[in-house]
Amino acid sequence: METRIFKLNEIDQAAQAIKDGQLVAFPTETVYGLGADATNEAAVKNVYLAKGRPSDNPLIVHVASIEMVERYAAEIPNSARQLMKAFWPGSLTIILKIKPGSLSKTVTGGLETVAFRYPDCQPTLDLILKAGVPIVGPSANTSGKPSPTTAQHVFHDLNGKIFGILDNGPTRVGVESTVLDLSTPQPAILRPGAVTKAQIESVIGSIDLDQHHVGTNETPKAPGMKYRHYAPGVPVAIVDPQTNWQSVNAWIEEQPSKVGVMAEKQILDAFSWPDNAVIYSLGEDVSDASSHLFAGLRFFDDQKDVASILVQGLDATGLGAAYMNRLNKSAGGKHFEVPVK
Ligand code: TXA
Ligand code: MG
Repeated sequence: METRIFKLNEIDQAAQAIKDGQLVAFPTETVYGLGADATNEAAVKNVYLAKGRPSDNPLIVHVASIEMVERYAAEIPNSARQLMKAFWPGSLTIILKIKPGSLSKTVTGGLETVAFRYPDCQPTLDLILKAGVPIVGPSANTSGKPSPTTAQHVFHDLNGKIFGILDNGPTRVGVESTVLDLSTPQPAILRPGAVTKAQIESVIGSIDLDQHHVGTNETPKAPGMKYRHYAPGVPVAIVDPQTNWQSVNAWIEEQPSKVGVMAEKQILDAFSWPDNAVIYSLGEDVSDASSHLFAGLRFFDDQKDVASILVQGLDATGLGAAYMNRLNKSAGGKHFEVPVK
C-alpha cells in the first residue's frame, strides 16, 4: 500500500480515515505528527509500530478545544488555564494529571499524566474537529531520525507504513513544542521549544528547566529524553559561537572527503568554500535556523559521500535553547575543535 497524500481540500477524507482507525500524519506549526484516534487503542498501538518507538514513551494528545482537555484531565489548575489563554493555539504542550481510566495506557506509557497540545495549524484543528476525537501525535519520523518538517520527509520515512499524510507544505517553527509539566507542585520544562522559559515565567512565575542527562536505567520525567534523537547517518559536530570560521574553512580544505556545513547565510557568504564543502544555509537568524535545522540534517542524510557535518552553534537563550537542545542531541554532544598544529 502506497501512503496517500491528502490535499487541504480533502480533510473530510483524512478525518474519516482517522475515525476508521487508520494512521494519518498531520501538519502542525512545529513539525509533522503521526496521527491516530487517541481513544482507539489498536490504532494507537500501530503508531508505535510504524515509528519503531519504544512503548514506554508516551504520546502527546492533540486537541482542538479546552473542552477536549476537560474530558481527560483530572483537573485543570489555574496556572494551566492562564497558560492556555496566553499560548494556545501554539507550541506549548502541557502535562496534567489524567482522569483515571479515561485514556489507554498505550497513550500515556503507563504514567498517571497526559500531555496536551492545541496546535496553531487550522487544517489540523479542522481534522480533529471533523474526526470528533483528540489525535495522538508523536513526530512523524522513524524513531531516532530528525523530526519531519515537510510531508515529503514523512513520506520518506513512513511510506507504506501509514494510510495517509495531510500536506500543508513546510512547517513554520521547525522544532517541536515546549513540554511543560504542570502535574507536580513545581512546574518544570521537560523539553525547550518555541514558547520560551521567559514567556512562561511572565505568566506563572519562576519554573525549573529540567534537562539533566538521563541514563538508560533511570526513569526520566519525559521518557523521550533518554533516547538518541535527531541523528542523521553521519557524525555531526557543533561549531561553537566563538570559533573562527576561517580556520574551519581551512580545516575542511585539508579533508580527504566531503564535509557538510550548516551555518547562517552571513557566515557562508563571508568565505569562498573549498570544493569538498557541501553547504546548507540556515537562513539569517535563530528563527530561520530552527526552522531549517531538521531539513538540513535530512538533506545530508541523503548525500551518501558526505563524511561528517559541521553545524553552527547559537546562543542557547530564548528560541536558541530549543535549537541548541536539538543540535546537541543530533551531535551526541560533540563539538568541533580546530586541531592545534
Ligand atoms: O511539536 C510537537 O510537540 C510535535 C507535534 C507533532 O505536535 N510532537 C512531538 O511528539 O514532538 P513526540 O512524541 O515526538 O515528543 C513528545 C515528548 C516526548 O519526549 C515524550 O516523552 C514527552 O513529550 N511526553 C509525552 N507525554 C508525557 C507525559 N505524560 N509525561 C512526561 N513526558 C511526556
Ligand atoms: Mg519525536
